[in-house]
Formats: sequence, C-alpha cells, structure tokens
Amino acid sequence: MMKERIRIDFSNLLSDAVGEEGLDLADWERGRPRAERILWQLQKERAEGKHPFLDLPYRRPDEVLRVAEGLRGKFDPLVILGIGGSSLGAQAIMEALFHPFFRFQRKAGDGGPEVLILDNVDPGSVSYALKRANRGDPLILAISKSGTTVETLSQLLAFLDLLRKRWPKGWKERVVVITDPERGPLRRFAEKEGIKALPVPPGVGGRFSVMTAVGLLPAALVGVDVEELLLGAVEMDRAMKEEGWNPSLFSAFAHYYLHVQKGKGNWVTLPYSDSLRGISAWRRQLIGESLGKKRDLAPTPLTAVGTTDQHSQLQLWLDGPRDKVIAFLTIEAHPEVSIPDVGWEDEDVSYLQGKDFASLLEAERKATEFALTKGGCPNYTIFLKELTASVLGGLFYLWEVEVALCGSFYGVNPFDQPAVEEGKKVTKGLMGKGDMKGKREEWESWWKGRRSWRWPG
Ligand code: PA5
Repeated sequence: MMKERIRIDFSNLLSDAVGEEGLDLADWERGRPRAERILWQLQKERAEGKHPFLDLPYRRPDEVLRVAEGLRGKFDPLVILGIGGSSLGAQAIMEALFHPFFRFQRKAGDGGPEVLILDNVDPGSVSYALKRANRGDPLILAISKSGTTVETLSQLLAFLDLLRKRWPKGWKERVVVITDPERGPLRRFAEKEGIKALPVPPGVGGRFSVMTAVGLLPAALVGVDVEELLLGAVEMDRAMKEEGWNPSLFSAFAHYYLHVQKGKGNWVTLPYSDSLRGISAWRRQLIGESLGKKRDLAPTPLTAVGTTDQHSQLQLWLDGPRDKVIAFLTIEAHPEVSIPDVGWEDEDVSYLQGKDFASLLEAERKATEFALTKGGCPNYTIFLKELTASVLGGLFYLWEVEVALCGSFYGVNPFDQPAVEEGKKVTKGLMGKGDMKGKREEWESWWKGRRSWRWPG
C-alpha cells in the first residue's frame, strides 16, 4: 500500500458545518449526474487527444534530464526569463522545495546556483539581475511558448547584449530557450544561432505547462527530482480514476455551487507556510486566466498566507461579506524549531516556552479554521504530509483538473485568454511596432484631454 501524501478534508464546505452558507449534500447528489457527465466529457476529449496537459506526467523527461545534466554545476546564477505560465510553475517548485525567504533570489540547496526569476520589466530588477550576472558565470533560460512576449524578449535582449560583450566566443553556451517547437522568434533565433532549445508541446497552454520543460528544466537545473514530481502527478491521476470519487470534481462542483447559489465568488488560497506562497500564486493565475471569461459570472482568485494574513485580512473574512471560499493548505512535517524556555516569568509569555514553531503554526491554523467555520465561511483543508517533489506534482495535477472541470461548469473555455491580447497589442504599438501603429493612434486619441491632479499644484 502506498503511503498517504495528501489528505483533503472538505467537511467545512458543507451545510452541516457552516449552516446555510454551505453546500447541502442533497444538492451535491442532485448535481452529481451533471458533474459526472462533465468529467466523462473531459476524459473522452482526453482520449481524443484534445487535452495533452493531462498526459504530460506520463512523458519521460529525458531531454530535460540530459540538458540539465550537461549544465549542472557549470553556472551561477541561473537567470530565468519568463512571465505568467512561463514562470509561475518553476517559481512555485523552487519556493516549495528550497529556502523561501527571497522571491527573486534564491540559494538552491547547498552550493547550488543563485536563482533569479525575472518575471517583470521593472528596471530595478533587470538592473540587479544584469549586475549579478555580470559578476558571475550565468546561465540564461528564456521561456516563452509564443516567443513574442514583450517582457521576455526585452529581458533576453538585455542579457544577450551583456553576454556577447562579456563572452564574445562562449555566449551561445550560456543561453537555453524553451519555446514552441516550430514557430516564433525565439525558435527562429535558436535555430539561426545554434542555441539549445527545448519545446513546449503543442496544445499545452502556458498555465498548464508546469510539467513540460517550462517547469521541469529550471527545477532539474537546481537539483529537483523531476521524475518524482511527474510520478506524483501520475499517481494523483490514477487515484482520481480508481477511487470512483474524484476530489477535483467534487471541489469544482462545490466551488461553482457556492458561487452561483450562495454568492461566494472569491476563492482564497491560504497556505500556512511561506514555502507555499509560490503555489498559491500559480493557482491564482490558473483560476484567473482560465475562468475569468464572463462579465456576470467569474470567480476571483485571491491569495493569502497564514499566519501573516490573520493580521491583515482575517477581520474582513470574519465580519465582512460572506463571499469567500477558503482553501487552507498545511504541511504536516516541518523542520523542528523550538521556542526555548528562557525562564521568562510572565503568564502572557511563559505558556509559549518549551513549545515549538510547528505546533504554534498549526494551532493558529486550527483556530482560524474554527473561527471561520463557526462564522459560516465555507473552507476546506488540504493536508500535505511533507513538502516533496511528488506531493507538488500531485497538487499541480489536482488543481489543473479542477480548473479544467470548472471551465465546463461555468460554460467557458479554460484554455484561452482572449482579453489579455488587446493590452499586448497596445503595448507593442506604444513601443513602436510597425504593424501595431493603429493601436498606438487609438491609444493616443483615447488619452487626449486627460486631467491629473498635481502636488504641489
Ligand atoms: O497561461 C498563459 O497562457 C499565459 O499566462 C502565458 O504563459 C504568458 O502570457 C506568457 O506567454 P508566453 O509563454 O508565450 O511568453
């Protein structure tokens, strides 16, 4: 028998726990035939080859392993250029499996490279990363499925300039790209220059690509066991099929039901762990870009972290509008760090002495769960036995399937993102791209006559 790695307790979503704010099991039974048809449809389409992301965990990551093996230990820092689905997965993996104190700057394990994930064009961040790369022996990993994303391209141009000047002969060995197997400027560039290039498999969208080279190569480069990660996802897929009761389906149904029937369209991911900030951000994008498609009905994904946000948002969740569903995430195995007994004799302090930080963290989570449940706020908890590559793989898969199923409940296509295209065109117009001149003019006439308040006036 396999050891338990993830346990999900959905009890607090139910009306038994939160009264009329929750899901009545009779409603689940009534909705179940439709839910099961939705699952059946997804599986049917999968069999027809329409959802390649569902089969990614079954692909051998040989190419990723080979490239990582050839590069490991030969560079520092690792600079990752990418945005959205092209960076959030790698970021989630690294934040979960390595020290999570720094967002864009991480020391991976003992003696691993420093990792800089540049998912913005903030000149301050770009300049820091350029300086750090110039001082070291960098590897630049440019990730863009389309190969046309302005953020990633502009960053790449800045790094190419640096590399060419500093290593006129060896600059090509310091660049790897991950992009469409056939199309786009990144692919053309890699082919022309003879630069290592890995593919994003056709039909896999950015936010569903963490189990391709997009998430796996960065992870493998810092020593994550990517085969374990994929195996975790395979086992989650099998478990969902075998048990006859699919947690992603139940969760998708419950979220949709609570939104439509009870007005709970704000979905909060609330890990009690700094290491899971990254995976919350990853889930936020997955929900936001996949399900945000209808003016009158779309969930809003939010992130928070325990215990930090107990002192920031909990008041609102408890006394504010009852419009949220909260997903707690908790890790059962933490490093042992004691709260030592220093002999401080004060009853407001002494009860803490001799305990440990893991118990305190869990006590705070339980107390928050209790207060929210008592206050009628539906919530559920995902317990992770420990934070391993395999558990992460399982969690990625669970949530990807959930969001894909939610797409059918909401009647939207979860795999496209038409609305963000307009902004991309205007940006290109404003930056002087010839065929986007019309967009620039449109923006200029829209902008004319704006007034702003000035201080001092
Ligand atoms: O999920 C998505 O499709 C998006 O978030 C993309 O990943 C993001 O826009 C980056 O696109 P690209 O990988 O083409 O650079």
